[in-house]
Amino acid sequence: MGDFLLVTGGAGYIGSHTVVNLLERGSQVIVLDNLCNSNDAVFDRIDSITHSQAVFVKGDIRDRDCLAKIFSTYPIDSVIHFAGLKAVGESSQIPLDYYQNNVYGTLVLCEAMAAAGVKKLIFSSSATVYGEDAPVPYEETMPRGKTSNPYGTSKAMVEQILTDLCASDPEWSVALLRYFNPIGAHPSGLIGEDPKGIPNNLMPFISQVAVGKRKELSIFGNDYPTSDGTCERDYLHVMDLADGHVSALSALDEKGAHIYNLGTGKGLSVLEMVESFKRVTGVDVPYSFADRREGDLPAFWADASKAEKELDWSATRTLDEMMEDTWRWQSNNPNGYDG
Ligand code: NAD
Ligand code: UD1
Repeated sequence: MGDFLLVTGGAGYIGSHTVVNLLERGSQVIVLDNLCNSNDAVFDRIDSITHSQAVFVKGDIRDRDCLAKIFSTYPIDSVIHFAGLKAVGESSQIPLDYYQNNVYGTLVLCEAMAAAGVKKLIFSSSATVYGEDAPVPYEETMPRGKTSNPYGTSKAMVEQILTDLCASDPEWSVALLRYFNPIGAHPSGLIGEDPKGIPNNLMPFISQVAVGKRKELSIFGNDYPTSDGTCERDYLHVMDLADGHVSALSALDEKGAHIYNLGTGKGLSVLEMVESFKRVTGVDVPYSFADRREGDLPAFWADASKAEKELDWSATRTLDEMMEDTWRWQSNNPNGYDG
């Protein structure tokens, strides 16, 4: 298509998969990332997949001069904003860092956009903004709920800020994409999720146990009011999530703030995930039951019908593909981008 897109956080897990899709559709992509949770080796991998290149600017979304230079150098049409910190537990220990990066960083970005006259934005929000008491499935018309950690609160605050911005200036169009649980990797096995240190999230933990980096999985709680006592989540393939951003770009022609759930609409339990991984890969994943993790909700999944109706998007990859692609990435890259 030849449009120019700024992708903040484009070296990260979801960003890198989205950059692949954008390059494959012919967009010119400028990635701004400070690499605080990623590795610039990802760009050679993206080149190998797409045979085209994103421009990489190593820098911080809080750096006004850096943003001004990007907007004056490239004729950016829209911004996809992934950059931010995302570890829930850590956010309670260093809340100021989370509000600095996620809230202040977004303010600086929006100010730079406004100064450059760029008023189309896609924001990475999270199902966590539905809060602790929302009934399932989550629908976009429900009010945001009570968040239980600074990470979740930062996402809810940014949603409100962007909604207010759209109300104040009818030139803005913003998509607030509420992700459910992205897993999997590009089917090439060249890019995938590469958490630093001990993974917080389920799927990277399972695959690191399978590859022999960790001894066993602790399943946090088996006494929840669910089918088998373990928590249920709406897992979607990261390539479907990446497609969702491409679909949302077309919705940016409509002004105002628009919320979309990006999920499959189906909940799966932790035990179902472990069993599926074993069935699909043939690799065992030893596990034991542990106490519940503080802040975990028993079960949630998306009502995904609005994105299907308005964006013509739905998650199409199967659970087996999620498992196969996770394992291809992990087994080909036992130490992630470090080899
Ligand atoms: P990620 O950590 O892999 O990617 C985020 C990227 O942003 C990293 O490359 C990091 O280096 C960069 N970054 C962080 N702060 C920055 C800053 N101040 N300036 C420039 N770059 C910065 O995370 P991800 O899983 O790809 O998530 C992307 C976005 O989606 C995040 O905003 C996250 O909160 C949100 N999200 C993720 C999930 C999930 O399950 N992964 C779920 C819901 C929402
Ligand atoms: C977590 C965050 C959420 C964030 C999302 C994506 C919490 C409380 N929530 O969601 O805000 O948007 O990540 O980054 O951290 N599990 C285990 N053992 C493990 C890891 C996880 O049993 O070692 C279980 C969890 O209890 C949960 C499920 O697996 O039931 C999924 O966990 P996870 O991948 O961390 O995602 P969420 O908790 O849904």
